[in-house]
Amino acid sequence: MSNPSLLILPGDGIGPEVMAQVRRIIDWFGDKRDLKIDVSEDLVGGAAYDAHGTPLHDDTMAKAQEVDAVLLGAVGGPKYDVLDFSVKPERGLLRLRKEMDLYANLRPAQCFDALADFSSLKRDVVAGLDIMIVRELTSGIYFGEPRGIFEEGNERVGINTQRYTESEIERVARSAFELARRRGNKVCSMEKANVMESGILWREVVQKVHDEEYADVELSHMYADAGAMQLCRWPKQFDVIVTDNLFGDLLSDAAAMLTGSLGMLPSASLGAPMANGRPKAMYEPVHGSAPDIAGQGKANPIACILSFAMALRYSFDQGAEADRLEAAVAKVLEDGVRTADLLGEEGVEPVSTEGMGDAVLAALDASL
Ligand code: IPM
Ligand code: MG
Repeated sequence: MSNPSLLILPGDGIGPEVMAQVRRIIDWFGDKRDLKIDVSEDLVGGAAYDAHGTPLHDDTMAKAQEVDAVLLGAVGGPKYDVLDFSVKPERGLLRLRKEMDLYANLRPAQCFDALADFSSLKRDVVAGLDIMIVRELTSGIYFGEPRGIFEEGNERVGINTQRYTESEIERVARSAFELARRRGNKVCSMEKANVMESGILWREVVQKVHDEEYADVELSHMYADAGAMQLCRWPKQFDVIVTDNLFGDLLSDAAAMLTGSLGMLPSASLGAPMANGRPKAMYEPVHGSAPDIAGQGKANPIACILSFAMALRYSFDQGAEADRLEAAVAKVLEDGVRTADLLGEEGVEPVSTEGMGDAVLAALDASL
């Protein structure tokens, strides 16, 4: 069998710095675990705009469609704020999601024991937290038509459209139920069925998929605003949360903070299976490009490293090696290794981005 292929798109800001550490880890798996991956690299976001005048070159898009998985760093930065909306760095990311049809965005929020005190919530509320947000990623208000800024009488009106078809809801619901079966067997679906027709349909369809195909999974429904409140009140009541594109964007940032630092959280965006049986897939940290600390060697590479662990699990059928990498990260945190985003403990000196990479590699070596 040929090696799995991975397209790396480091992007902007801290993207290239954190990705450099992931490349060392990919090399480690090649050398020490004989897990060879064909890695290629290209531009996305502002970096692509600087080189080609577009946040995603067509050739890069075509490459992304061919590989087994894409690993993306981050996009955006203040330098690009002045650009026209159509060529902003984010458009590159959204194009990848849409054209690869990556409809199921898995955003785990896991609180490492060693970091429970970093959360702004009390330790007992977050310690041991392990929830999975499944965010619909290719439809809803992010992509619905009509959209735009139009003239209406003597003023302008800004329009975006929330739109979901039954099949779009069905497929992401199935992803959530499938995941739940491999975890705590519970799904909570969130929408605003009290004010939005798209929410009424969402609720009906999720219930129907449940009743017809996944009656063994426990299903509940919550209005998304109440869900946000419950996430802060007692997040451990949840196992899998399934929700639309915009609510998922908001709820996953809130869930991320439960774990202490946005610098810790990976994500996987999955689509339909390709001819080789692997799902279309892109992996990316939940954090952004953090322009304020870019280029200073301060960024925490763990979210990106854990995104690669998700690629090992969901794209490369290497669950045991994913476990190994996640355990190495947990070990490093238990040992008190901290990047600057994780400070606050008495007498702890931060390590650099590369220092965190060194520590994870040492923990991987120790795992052999
Ligand atoms: C995310 C980000 C993106 C989104 C931006 C960068 C377009 O916030 O992945 O959560 O809104 O989806
Ligand atoms: Mg977001």
